[in-house]
Amino acid sequence: MLGTLWKTASVITLLTGAASAIDLDIKDDKSIKSAAHTAAYGAMSYYTGNLTGHIPGAFPTKWWEGSILFNTMIHYWYLTGDDSNNPAVIQGMNWQSGDNNDYMTANYSSYIGNDDQSFWGLAAMTAAEFGLPQMSTEVSWASKAVAVFNSQASRWDDSTCGGGLRWQIYTYEAGYGIKNAMSNGEFFELAARLARYTGNTTYSNWAEKIWDWSSSVPLLNNETWIISDSMSAENHCATSDNVQWSINYGAYVTGAAYMYNLTNGASKWKSGVDGLLNTSLTNFFPAQYGGDIMSEYECEEKELCNNSEILFKGIFVRDLALVSTVAPYTMDDILPRLQGSASAAAEACTGESNDTCGVRWYSEKYDGEKGMEEQLSAASVFTANLVAFDRSDLATQAGGTNATSATTNTTDTRASGTQAASSASGTSANGASVLVGGPLAVTAAVLAGMMATF
Ligand SMILES: *[C@@H]1O[C@H](CO)[C@@H](O)[C@H](O)[C@H]1NC(C)=O
Ligand SMILES: *[C@@H]1O[C@H](CO)[C@@H](O)[C@H](O)[C@H]1NC(C)=O
Ligand SMILES: *[C@@H]1O[C@H](CO)[C@@H](O)[C@H](O)[C@H]1NC(C)=O
Ligand SMILES: *[C@@H]1O[C@H](CO)[C@@H](O)[C@H](O)[C@H]1NC(C)=O
Ligand SMILES: *[C@@H]1O[C@H](CO)[C@@H](O)[C@H](O)[C@H]1NC(C)=O
Ligand SMILES: *[C@@H]1O[C@H](CO)[C@@H](O)[C@H](O)[C@H]1NC(C)=O
Ligand SMILES: *[C@@H]1O[C@H](CO)[C@@H](O)[C@H](O)[C@H]1NC(C)=O
Ligand SMILES: *[C@@H]1O[C@H](CO)[C@@H](O)[C@H](O)[C@H]1NC(C)=O
Ligand SMILES: *[C@@H]1O[C@H](CO)[C@@H](O)[C@H](O)[C@H]1NC(C)=O
Ligand SMILES: *[C@@H]1O[C@H](CO)[C@@H](O)[C@H](O)[C@H]1NC(C)=O
Repeated sequence: MLGTLWKTASVITLLTGAASAIDLDIKDDKSIKSAAHTAAYGAMSYYTGNLTGHIPGAFPTKWWEGSILFNTMIHYWYLTGDDSNNPAVIQGMNWQSGDNNDYMTANYSSYIGNDDQSFWGLAAMTAAEFGLPQMSTEVSWASKAVAVFNSQASRWDDSTCGGGLRWQIYTYEAGYGIKNAMSNGEFFELAARLARYTGNTTYSNWAEKIWDWSSSVPLLNNETWIISDSMSAENHCATSDNVQWSINYGAYVTGAAYMYNLTNGASKWKSGVDGLLNTSLTNFFPAQYGGDIMSEYECEEKELCNNSEILFKGIFVRDLALVSTVAPYTMDDILPRLQGSASAAAEACTGESNDTCGVRWYSEKYDGEKGMEEQLSAASVFTANLVAFDRSDLATQAGGTNATSATTNTTDTRASGTQAASSASGTSANGASVLVGGPLAVTAAVLAGMMATF
């Protein structure tokens, strides 16, 4: 993940003036939409990529965060119906996908990590599933997600640890010697979502392979359901660090939920969903704060979260919203925690007399921190609560396009070109490189149906 400055605890003196609290009624969808709007507006106020002379989607010091901004705004649009940010989102998502549509854009490719790239791939996947409109001059969102998948599949590394993706891509990058949960978990999630979206077994076979490898090394423990963050490829992944981050759980539980849905409830995936939900809901919603308010506890309690880590909560609650949609039986466990977290976040978003959001929701008051990351996590938790109201819409579209209803976009020549280019630079031994074309594009009729929802 690309670096950012550490944030340190600070600034109690900012707690001045009458707070204009977000007045959230968690049982009222209009009230939730209003809270989501306030937080999303605050997040977009940090975005300048759509201004004249600026580069769309570019965040020079923290490139991966652009993918989180856009993925959050796609969820926000889809669940609230407010499409006012879509022009900026569509422009930025396309610009950063680069000449090959695979989010290995030249300006960043020399220091990109596998996890950075796949966060963009997952944003494109969300755009495909939710039917974000695409420009006629661009390939489909699903084609861009496939391009990311293909380049990652070509990097699968059997030379150490029996497989897995490395954290970083190039030998000169510091994280090259590491195999981590974030890179492999997101690759798993992308494969599982593509499998359900296209119905193509190439992706489900990969999802199985990534999951099985992850549980064969000390990364994903399929008995305790604890996920560690990193292992050293240099010591053959003999040990792991046991550091706990919510997004590692989010990626694996989301992928497992999509596989659960695709297989119509196969026990392998159900036990994965149950096990990972159990550990993550227990650990990231600490009993000491009532058990229903999310905390990225490894850094929040010490007040040492960096910008990346401040985004993790938002990514995780978005994942929970997807899980509750494709594995609806989980809703009863998930919803109270989304509600408790949103209610607390509303009280943490009371800064600067304009609803600026802090980091720690459990403090239930503004904690003096601010940034795009704080705004995005709050926007995500408000938005995620709308699954309690708009389930039928979300259910239709989060993967409603299966092999039957998807069609091959035979005119999508740029996607084929991309895939040929990706495979040229990687190995083709695993079969990933033959993913040319495929039933990816949403038909115009399906897209029209999606848009009619609003
Ligand atoms: C922020 O934390 C993440 C892991 O949680 C780490 O990968 C990243 O390098 C950190 N960033 C900085 C600038 O320290
Ligand atoms: C909220 O107020 C602060 C301090 O005046 C300002 O820096 C920030 O841009 C404002 N945020 C929004 C979304 O208007
Ligand atoms: C840039 O995007 C923001 C947020 O969607 C929007 O309010 C603003 O009007 C856009 N500016 C331009 C110049 O398109
Ligand atoms: C890469 O940098 C150049 C020069 O600043 C800029 O014109 C271009 O838009 C950038 N491309 C992306 C994808 O950020
Ligand atoms: C746990 O993972 C190991 C290694 O992949 C596998 O052999 C075992 O069957 C898995 N257990 C379950 C219950 O899936
Ligand atoms: C996790 O599993 C344990 C043992 O089955 C159970 O007591 C606990 O309630 C579960 N926790 C959650 C959050 O589901
Ligand atoms: C799969 O997801 C759909 C929503 O897209 C849901 O209606 C269905 O019940 C899910 N299948 C299973 C087995 O839970
Ligand atoms: C695929 O989607 C169509 C139309 O939405 C539906 O009728 C069909 O049952 C689905 N097939 C599978 C295998 O889910
Ligand atoms: C198919 O791809 C072409 C070329 O990129 C594009 O113009 C067209 O809109 C795409 N059609 C669909 C249905 O996505
Ligand atoms: C799945 O993808 C592979 C590789 O691109 C392709 O050969 C195959 O035809 C696809 N299967 C279906 C059912 O479309």
